[in-house]
This record gives sequence, C-alpha cells and structure tokens, in this order.
Amino acid sequence: MNSILLTGADGQLGWELARTLGPLGEVHACARTHLDVTNADAVREVVARLKPDVIVNAAAYTAVDRAESEEVSAMLVNARAPRLLAEEAEKLGAWLLHYSTDYVFDGAKRAAYREDDEPNPLSAYGRSKLAGEQAIVAAASRHLIFRVSWLYGNHGNNFLRSMLELGAARDAFGVVADQQGAPTWHRLVAEATAIVIGQLRSAAHPRSVSGIYHLTCSGHASWFDFAQAIFDAYEPSRRPTLMPLTTEQYAATAQRPRNSVLANDKIRAKFGIVMPSWRDALALCANEARAFAVPRPGRRA
Ligand SMILES: NC(=O)c1ccc[n+]([C@@H]2O[C@H](COP(=O)([O-])OP(=O)(O)OC[C@H]3O[C@@H](n4cnc5c(N)ncnc54)[C@H](OP(=O)(O)O)[C@@H]3O)[C@@H](O)[C@H]2O)c1
Repeated sequence: MNSILLTGADGQLGWELARTLGPLGEVHACARTHLDVTNADAVREVVARLKPDVIVNAAAYTAVDRAESEEVSAMLVNARAPRLLAEEAEKLGAWLLHYSTDYVFDGAKRAAYREDDEPNPLSAYGRSKLAGEQAIVAAASRHLIFRVSWLYGNHGNNFLRSMLELGAARDAFGVVADQQGAPTWHRLVAEATAIVIGQLRSAAHPRSVSGIYHLTCSGHASWFDFAQAIFDAYEPSRRPTLMPLTTEQYAATAQRPRNSVLANDKIRAKFGIVMPSWRDALALCANEARAFAVPRPGRRA
C-alpha cells in the first residue's frame, strides 16, 4: 500500500495521523481547506486522481453540544461524507478507515461496552456518528471503524488543554464526576492506525477483518479523576481546587452517557494491539510536553 488519502488533517487526530502514517507510504494529508468532505465533486475528483490504497477519514463534526441545534450539519459531515468516501473506496477496492465514538451508546450498561452491544445514542452528535458507521458498513466491503473516546493530547482542542487553560485562569472550578469513560491520547490512536494499516497488507481475507473496533486506553475514569490526574502530571506545584459536579449541575446542552467505557478485546485479538492504561498514557503525554516544551494554554511559550 503506497498511497494514503487522509482527510481532516488539521484536527487533533488528523494532525497526529499525518505524522505517524508517513513511513507507510505517500500520505496525501488534506485539511478542510484542501478537501471539504461534504463537497461530493471535490471528493470524487481527489479520489479519482490519487487512487489511494487507503482512505483515512479523520474529518468530523465534533461540537457535541452545538450539534443539538445543528443536526443537519453534523449529519452532512459525520454520515453523508463517510457514505461518499465508502462508495469511492469501494469503486477502487481501497480500504476506508474511519473513527467513531463511545457516544453511540446510552451509558446504561454497567460493564464495558463491546462492539456487538446495541447502540442507542443520546445526542445529535451520537446519532450522526452512528449513521456514519451504518453508511460505511453498507457501502464499503473493506472498512475499519475505530470507536475512540475522550481524545486528548498536547495540541488541538481537547479536555486536557481546556483544563490547563482553566487552571491558569482560575483557582477553583467544578468538573463532572459522574460520567465514566477512558481518556485516550490521540497519539496512541494514530500509532494503532499505522500498525493496522501495516497488517492490512497481509490480510488475505479482508472481510474477516472488516468491521467495528473499540480502540481506547485501558481502565476508566470520570472527567473529575482525569482533571486531577492532568494537574498532577502537568502542574503538580500549582493545582487549582477541583470540585466534583453532577451531570445535572454542569447542565451541558447535549446529553452524554454515564458510562461509555469500551472493551478493547476485539482489536487485541484481531490485530494484537494492546492499549496502555489511561494513566500511563497521560504520563507519556506529559513527558512529551516537558521534553519538547510544548506551549501551555494560558502561559507564554
Ligand atoms: N475528540 C474526542 O474526544 C473524540 C471522542 C470520540 C470520537 N472522536 C472521533 O474521533 C475523530 C477525530 O476527532 P478529533 O478529536 O480529531 O476532532 P477535531 O479535532 O474536531 O478534528 C476534526 C477535523 O475535521 C475537520 N472537518 C470538519 N468538517 C469538515 C469537512 N466538511 N471537510 C473536511 N474536514 C472537516 C475539522 O476542521 P475545522 O476545525 O475547520 O472544523 C477538524 O480539522 C472524529 O471522527 C471524532 O468523531 C473524537
């Protein structure tokens, strides 16, 4: 596989993928300004011209609360565009790799969700991502859909950076403590994607690996636990006072699952990928920020 088309290359995961996939072949990394995935003519033209072996779709509408009032826009990016990419991949015999979310589940399950558990999204964002999954499964025989959760890292818009920004501005604030999930460093998702693409070269029977995979760090935490761990890792000498909030007290626009922990057994069994614990991953991410002096939100570089 020599040619990879990457969409959404300016997003937090797309940025990591553009760097991590490099050794696998020629990566055509397209930010939204280069390729709007809702522009069908543009997508068809780029795919026809580049003839990629693999399409990696990191483009998404990810504003979970805003999606409640912009469901049509969310559907265009998260469902219609994936369908188009799936159709184009199918015409070429290419693989489509795509990312979905823990928010396809309603959170009522007590244990970690498996891939064959019934989705029941609570939000417009979750519905749009589920519709994207279904469109891909229907249209592309060679597809891998990775459900990821609570993505963070040293760049991009994410919870870790929001916490550091808040911590730089305020001495005390509240964080939701009754939703459980698995914080996942986007670098590890990008690296797992690269490993999987490497293995696709030798997959004799694509249909046997095609499907949905959960791909998150192991263990689980509440947003409150995660925030505490972020300040322990990044600002041990100056941490704000964190107050646990209930979901009702925080009163976000979109409803979120109380439990969105995902079981990773399938990706381990099919591709041998073992994700580290979320705490170990966070320590690595913080080490990277220190080693490369990544500018902190709210601080001068
Ligand atoms: N972030 C999380 O915690 C999380 C959790 C679960 C699943 N996921 C999934 O993981 C994947 C990656 O998410 P992320 O955190 O990297 O999201 P992100 O940082 O918001 O990146 C998404 C990228 O897609 C781009 N985009 C939006 N509309 C587009 C369009 N019409 N054409 C082309 N590009 C477009 C965005 O550009 P603009 O910035 O210009 O809009 C942005 O660069 C997504 O599928 C997301 O649903 C994320």
